[in-house]
Amino acid sequence: MTSSEIRQKFLDFFASRGHQIVPSSSLVPGNDPTLLFTNAGMVQFKDTFLGDEQRDYNRATSSQRCVRAGGKHNDLENVGYTARHHTFFEMLGNFSFGDYFKRDAIKYAWEFLTVELGLPAEKLWITVFEDDSEAESIWLEEMKIDPSRFSRLGEKDNFWSMGDTGPCGPCSEIFYDHGEDVPGGPPGSPDEDGDRYIEIWNLVFMQYEKKADGSMTPLPKPSVDTGAGLERVAAVMQNVHSNYEIDLFQDLLKAISTITGVDDLNNNSLKVIADHIRSCSFLICLLYTSDAADE
Ligand code: SER
Repeated sequence: MTSSEIRQKFLDFFASRGHQIVPSSSLVPGNDPTLLFTNAGMVQFKDTFLGDEQRDYNRATSSQRCVRAGGKHNDLENVGYTARHHTFFEMLGNFSFGDYFKRDAIKYAWEFLTVELGLPAEKLWITVFEDDSEAESIWLEEMKIDPSRFSRLGEKDNFWSMGDTGPCGPCSEIFYDHGEDVPGGPPGSPDEDGDRYIEIWNLVFMQYEKKADGSMTPLPKPSVDTGAGLERVAAVMQNVHSNYEIDLFQDLLKAISTITGVDDLNNNSLKVIADHIRSCSFLICLLYTSDAADE
């Protein structure tokens, strides 16, 4: 399945479940002076989560172009050296603005992965925030997840906030196990940073607004913000262990190899160049067309 087919399948799946398809917003956020670049699918919906902006729909889905090259969510140093980190990537997301909450967010994600994409349940691993017994019981008792592929983790891993301020909440993450020939351990283990278990989807249960003084106040309505990395899902669906082996990267890497004379497509520097070219291209393109992109 090509990356383009996965993107369309995701949007169609959520559209057929009452979600408005919303185009990716500009890589330079128009509504947030605290961010240089759009770093998550929820950025264009920030004011809706906070109750400051009303939309004529309460469910949305998007494939958002993101750049993470600094600030709270910064993967820059890992780029080119892990199978999964990028400065530029696309985040598939479904959003509920005071409509459904944990139960449906979990059910939709599980159905999309195991039925729509046909992934075997035994290749998936689930985490929840350590205090979130509600999400735990939905996964274990209603979705019948195998408890041996389930972890409760702390704030660092399972409480998501967009930055120092803004909407935030506990989250539940879904990992794909790339198999024992790939180094790395399950989430929460000492060698979790390897590339064996890759987070493919983060379900954030938006419940609070974090203020500059660190205090958290409840949002007007509990909401949902999810993010699935398109390139990571594509690696799974294309039976490769690295995002750099998917369709979106292969032509770029081959062209860079021809220009530089470096034959090894696994060379870290080639991967860094491929990643950075994508960032630069989309930043230039979307800076010049930001009005059009916002529309
Ligand atoms: N905002 C969350 C993230 O970026 C889920 O989309 O991971």
